[in-house]
Amino acid sequence: MIEKIAKPFLKWAGGKTQLISDIEKSLPLVIVNKKFTYIEPFVGSGAVLFWMLNNFPKMEKAVINDINADLINTYRTIASKPKELISILQNLQNEYHVFENNAEKRKEYYYEKRELYNLRNTEKGTQAALFIFLNRTCFNGLYRVNRNNGFNVPMGSYTKPMICDRENILAVSEVLQKVEILCGDFEQTLQHTNQNSFFYFDPPYKPLSETSSFNSYAKDDFNDEEQIRLRDFCTKIEILGHKWMLSNSDVKGKNINDNFFDDIYSNYLISRVKAKRSINANPENRGELSELLITNYNSKKTTIIHKKKGSSISIY
Ligand SMILES: C[S@@+](CC[C@H](N)C(=O)[O-])C[C@H]1O[C@@H](n2cnc3c(N)ncnc32)[C@H](O)[C@@H]1O
Repeated sequence: MIEKIAKPFLKWAGGKTQLISDIEKSLPLVIVNKKFTYIEPFVGSGAVLFWMLNNFPKMEKAVINDINADLINTYRTIASKPKELISILQNLQNEYHVFENNAEKRKEYYYEKRELYNLRNTEKGTQAALFIFLNRTCFNGLYRVNRNNGFNVPMGSYTKPMICDRENILAVSEVLQKVEILCGDFEQTLQHTNQNSFFYFDPPYKPLSETSSFNSYAKDDFNDEEQIRLRDFCTKIEILGHKWMLSNSDVKGKNINDNFFDDIYSNYLISRVKAKRSINANPENRGELSELLITNYNSKKTTIIHKKKGSSISIY
C-alpha cells in the first residue's frame, strides 16, 4: 500500500505552495536539529503546515490558528471525524457529477448548497463538507464573504471537479493528530509556545493596488494598522526568544517609493523572492511578482534533502 502524503485540502488565496523552496532556504537551523513547536497563526489552506508536518520529524507539536471559524471547523472535522466527512462529501460529489453535462442544473445545485451553507444551521460535519464542496466548485476556489459573513463567490466553470479526495482527507486527518487547532485572532497563539518555538506568519497580504485586494477572507479587513499590530506581536515574540518568519507582498516592487514594510521591519532581515500569484482579481497583477520573506534570524542557507515521510532530513 502506498502511503499518501498529506497536502492542502483547499484552494486558498495566497496559498504558499510556490514559495516553499524559498521558505525552506530561509528556515532557522534550530528546527532541524532540535525538538520544536511549529506555530502558524494565519493557517489558511496550510501549504506550509503540511510541508512542515511531512518533512520535519523533530517537530513535537504544531499549533495552527485562523480567524475564519468555518475554515477551522473544517480542520477540526477532518481531524476528529474524517470518515463521516468523506461520506457526506462523496454524496455531494455523486449528486454534482450527475449534472456533468447540464450547466443549468449544476448552477441550481451550486446555489442551493451555497444558500444552505450560509444558513449555518446544519451540524458541524455537514457544514465542513459544504465548505469543501463550495471551495471545489466556486469561481477560482476563492473564499469571500460579505459584511454578514455570507459566502458570496459565484459558481466556477469546472464540469466534473474532484470534491471528495478520500485518500488525502485520511492522510490529513492522521497528521492533524499532533496539531492543536485554534480559532481567533493571531495574538492568542502566544499562549501556546514551548521553549523552542518557530512561528511562520502568512497574514493577508497588503494589496498592491485598490483593485488587487484579495484580503477579504473574513468579514474584517486586514489594513495597515493590522499589519503594524502584527509587527508589534513579532517584536514581542522575539523578546521572548522565539524565531519567526513572515511573508507579505512586496509593495516596493509595484511602487519604488513605497517603503511600508522596509520601514516597519527595519530591525529585521528582509529578503525579496520571486513568486507567482494565481488568485488575483486584476489580470495585470497576475504573473511574476516579488514577495517578502522577513525573519528575526540569519537563515541557515543550507540544503535540506527531502526524503519520504517517516525518514529523517539531512542538512549540508
Ligand atoms: C494569506 S492567508 C494564508 C494563506 C496560507 N498560508 C495558505 O497557504 O493558504 C491569510 C489568512 O489569515 C486569516 N486571518 C485574517 N485576519 C486574521 C487575524 N486577525 N488573526 C488570524 N487569522 C486571520 C484569513 O482568514 C486567511 O486564512
